[in-house]
This record gives sequence, structure tokens and C-alpha cells, in this order.
Amino acid sequence: MPYAIRATKPGGTDVLEQFEFNPEDPGTGEVRIRHGAIGVNFIDVYIRTGAYPWPVENNLVLGCEGAGVVEAVGAGVTGFKEGDRVAYTLPNGAYSTHRNISAASVVHLPDEIDDQTAAACMLKGLTCYYLLHNSFRVDAGHKVLFHAAAGGVGLIAGQWLAARGAAAYGTAGTDEKCALAMQNGYTDVINYNTDDFVVGIKALTEGSMVDVVYDSVGAATWPGSRDCLKRHGTLVAFGQSSGPVEGFKFADLAVGSLYLTRPTLFHFVSDRGWLENASTALFDMISTGRVKIAINQTFPLAEVAVAHNALESRATTGCTVLVP
Ligand SMILES: NC(=O)c1ccc[n+]([C@@H]2O[C@H](COP(=O)([O-])OP(=O)(O)OC[C@H]3O[C@@H](n4cnc5c(N)ncnc54)[C@H](OP(=O)(O)O)[C@@H]3O)[C@@H](O)[C@H]2O)c1
Repeated sequence: MPYAIRATKPGGTDVLEQFEFNPEDPGTGEVRIRHGAIGVNFIDVYIRTGAYPWPVENNLVLGCEGAGVVEAVGAGVTGFKEGDRVAYTLPNGAYSTHRNISAASVVHLPDEIDDQTAAACMLKGLTCYYLLHNSFRVDAGHKVLFHAAAGGVGLIAGQWLAARGAAAYGTAGTDEKCALAMQNGYTDVINYNTDDFVVGIKALTEGSMVDVVYDSVGAATWPGSRDCLKRHGTLVAFGQSSGPVEGFKFADLAVGSLYLTRPTLFHFVSDRGWLENASTALFDMISTGRVKIAINQTFPLAEVAVAHNALESRATTGCTVLVP
């Protein structure tokens, strides 16, 4: 019987509950997907806990990343047919054996990308694409600091930064995570729980500091991230796994005439042309072996609460995937 996991209200993992349902026919412009695999992301935790706005009045099926097979096609859909292998990121609704979704959110999967890889990389890999190409264009020779380097986004970013010829410096919370990040493209990784990363970056760059900092950690890494930037450098603040930054003032950027951007993936993937180009580039990076997707945790869909607990408690590395 098809089933899904819903969050009944914002809260701890106890708000997650399993329910059975009969999949509906897809509406106009939609396809129905039978999931082969589903990705777990920190945004799922932010929404579940209420750290990000709760988008509906009550029950919400979380999950923003999935891959599988098209089972049915709604009126007006062109470009997809029953039996096609597909993947997507956004919107919520992925923690389910089956889902209906707008065909505009879905892309075809090349044969060489399996469902688990696709479900692990659509949100995280497309995030890396916009971070490195759109938020700040990383080119050969740039010096880059990327926090949480051993995480889902972090391990993909390290490899992609290396492929672009950047000097990729990372941070991570344990020595084991630092060692893992070093195997995934980073030239140096600082344990920010034991060492001052600003001091570390100053030493590694011989005082010249970095062109760009990618910060998804938030409260714990601000204002250190700012202090790692060279003059006219760019801070890309794209998450807050340690909590939101409080007390920020525009004048904080005056120390180096710095740039700040706070991007979100939705504003990129909602442009169909961008989605197709970026997905093609991501799949090419994977197919050619320049980026390997590390699926380091796999859980049955029914055990999504265990997956959330692991991600929230910093017990994971790389990507986490649910299997229906
Ligand atoms: N804006 C966007 O479009 C966008 C898109 C995708 C992801 N993101 C953000 O990117 C970040 C990474 O996402 P992900 O799914 O790949 O997660 P992840 O990096 O696998 O997990 C988050 C990591 O953050 C670090 N962290 C530092 N302080 C923490 C704390 N107090 N509690 C929990 N974790 C803490 C942990 O690594 P250490 O133990 O090494 O510190 C943890 O493993 C998240 O903040 C996410 O929201 C943003």
C-alpha cells in the first residue's frame, strides 16, 4: 500500500507520522512519480522544527528531493511519458512512496545516474551549481572557504571547487570529518570546534585571506566568516545549521567593502532554463567522475525520524537517502 510520512505540526521528530493513501491521478501539468529514492536535507529539519515558515495550516509531507519513474501523466504535459526515469528538487512532498508534482520541476535522468545518486544530489548538487556559478563565480586561482565541508553540500562543493581550479579551504566539526573533506577536493580543512578558523585561514593564505566564504552554519561562524574575507570579498550566507545570525548591521561589511548575498535554491530552479542547464552540468560532473556523490547514510522511508535525528545531531557525513 502506498504510504507517506507527514509532520502534524512544527516540532521534534515525534511530530512525524506514517499514513497510507491511494495515489490520485496527476492534475493538469503534473506527473505522478513512484519514488526509487528520496533525499534528506537540512531544510527538512528547518521546516519540521518551525525554524523556517510552516507553509501549510496543519499536516505537511516534508522532503524536497527525489527520483523514480513516471507512473502517470496529467493533461497538457509534454516531454514526459509513463516509464521515464526522472528526478527533481522542490517543493515539499517527497517523503512518500508516490507523489504528484508539476512537470516543470522534473528532469530526465541519464541511464548512468541511479535513483539513489539522483535523490542525493538534486537539491545539494544544484545548490553547489548556483553557489559556484551564480552567487559568486569561482574561477581558477580563487581562494575559497566552505564551512561544514564534510556535509551533504560540503562534500560535493569540495570536489566541484577543485575541478574549477580553486584553492578550497574547509571547516568541519571533528578530525574524522576534516580527513573526509580532504579526500573530497579540499586542500586544507580546519576543525572549527578545536581551532580558530580565522587564525587558520590567515596562516594558510599567508595573510591575503579568501575571495569568498560560503557559510551555511550561521550563528556559530559569524563574524568569523567576515573576518576571513579579503577586501571586496563576498560572503554567501546560505543556511543556519547552528542558528540564525543575530544583530547583523550593514556597517559590519564596511571593514572591507564586502559583498553579501543570501540566496535560496527555489529562486534558481523555478527558472526552467536554469534548471535544465544546471542539471545537465551536474549530471555531467557525476558521469565524468569529477564529482562523486557520497551516500553515507541510507534509511527505510519509514525511519525518516532516525535520519532527522542523525542530521540534526551532526552525526552524518555526505548525503542521506531514504528508500521506500
Ligand atoms: N539556501 C539554499 O538554497 C540551500 C540549499 C541547500 C542547502 N542549504 C544549507 O546548506 C547547509 C548544508 O545542508 P546539508 O543538507 O548538506 O546538511 P549537512 O551539511 O550535511 O549538515 C549540516 C552540518 O552543519 C554543521 N553544523 C554546524 N553547527 C551545527 C549545529 N549546531 N547543528 C547541526 N549542524 C551543525 C554540521 O557539520 P560539522 O559537524 O562538520 O560542523 C552538520 O553536519 C544547511 O544549512 C542547509 O540549510 C541551503
